[in-house]
Amino acid sequence: FSLKSCNSFSFESVTSCIYFPESLDDLRQLSSLTNEPFYILGEGSNTLFLAEKAPVIIQPKFMGTSVDECDDAYLVSAGSAENWHQLVTYCVQKGYAGLENLALIPGSVGAAPIQNIGAYGVELSDVIEHVNWYEFATQTLHQLSHEQCQFGYRDSVFKREKRDKGIITQVCLKLPKAWQANISYQGLDSLSAEATPEQVYQRVIEVRQAKLPDPKVKPNAGSFFKNPVVSQQTYQQLVKHYPTMPAYQQSTTQVKLAAGWLIEQAGLKGIKQNGVGVHDKQALVLVNHGEGTGAAIYELARNINQQVFSKFGVSLQPEVRIVSASGLIIKDGFNG
Ligand code: EPU
Repeated sequence: FSLKSCNSFSFESVTSCIYFPESLDDLRQLSSLTNEPFYILGEGSNTLFLAEKAPVIIQPKFMGTSVDECDDAYLVSAGSAENWHQLVTYCVQKGYAGLENLALIPGSVGAAPIQNIGAYGVELSDVIEHVNWYEFATQTLHQLSHEQCQFGYRDSVFKREKRDKGIITQVCLKLPKAWQANISYQGLDSLSAEATPEQVYQRVIEVRQAKLPDPKVKPNAGSFFKNPVVSQQTYQQLVKHYPTMPAYQQSTTQVKLAAGWLIEQAGLKGIKQNGVGVHDKQALVLVNHGEGTGAAIYELARNINQQVFSKFGVSLQPEVRIVSASGLIIKDGFNG
């Protein structure tokens, strides 16, 4: 079974077996299969298939959306196989505000909590009520609270303790009726403070379309790297040499840097090699120019990491999930 149309890099990789569970019964039958290497695939917009051979693929098909109203909020529940942007559009159209900054992020609803998707000043964790997660070992469905999800910047418990231990079936969002436009982020700041959710939604779409390549035209997986978080001390050293360096204070001790800026300053924006390259409008995005392979992207990512490290002393970590024939590759950076 070819996965070329199931990953937004459009790389060829073949699996011997693919499952599409859509009920708890289906999941129970899968539990016995999880002894061999497998990978849980959403819409493939954050996945790099590294080799011609892929592991067993499980692609959940839990569908459906429902809304409950309480005094101060709307509770929106959606199946993990629903499309994220369609859910955002539905909520904006129905007047349930709060998701508009997250418009046009590719991928499925079920993938969203795993990497705690975020854009333009909002993270999914700001609106998560709970996540329904089926555990293979106990064959039970758990309702995980916001706290149990342990969200961080592009991080959650699903990337750590619960990785490969189960499957997200449904996500429940809490959208408070008291809403205020979040327009602090660069690009949205020209909107008026009275902007409606529709206006924020439209602006976010315009900004994304101007910077980020459409995977259907230029195959890519959005930001390839996470923005690196460094100590206050490291930041102070760097900013002495590079006074215009963008930075976002995370806490009193930690600062997040812009990986796209670091890559651009290392002179790598727009470069091409072996059919792949660095996007010319946003250096954090790696693209397949049509003739590339997963291995070529990986090699490019390693080179970028090396050059950014030698210039700034900062290591980049992949944001994209890298999958070989034996499953998800978990590595600290690109040093292997
Ligand atoms: N920058 C450059 N050169 C570049 C790219 C960026 O100098 O080539 C500078 C920008 O000028 C800006 C700063 O770096 O000062 C940050 O850039 P931008 O606002 O474009 O955002 P980002 O930090 O590169 C993150 C997310 C994106 C999200 C945007 C907007 C990560 C890994 N990426 O990118 O998410 O859309 O913020 O909120 O956190 C994704 O995860 O796939 C993704 C696209």
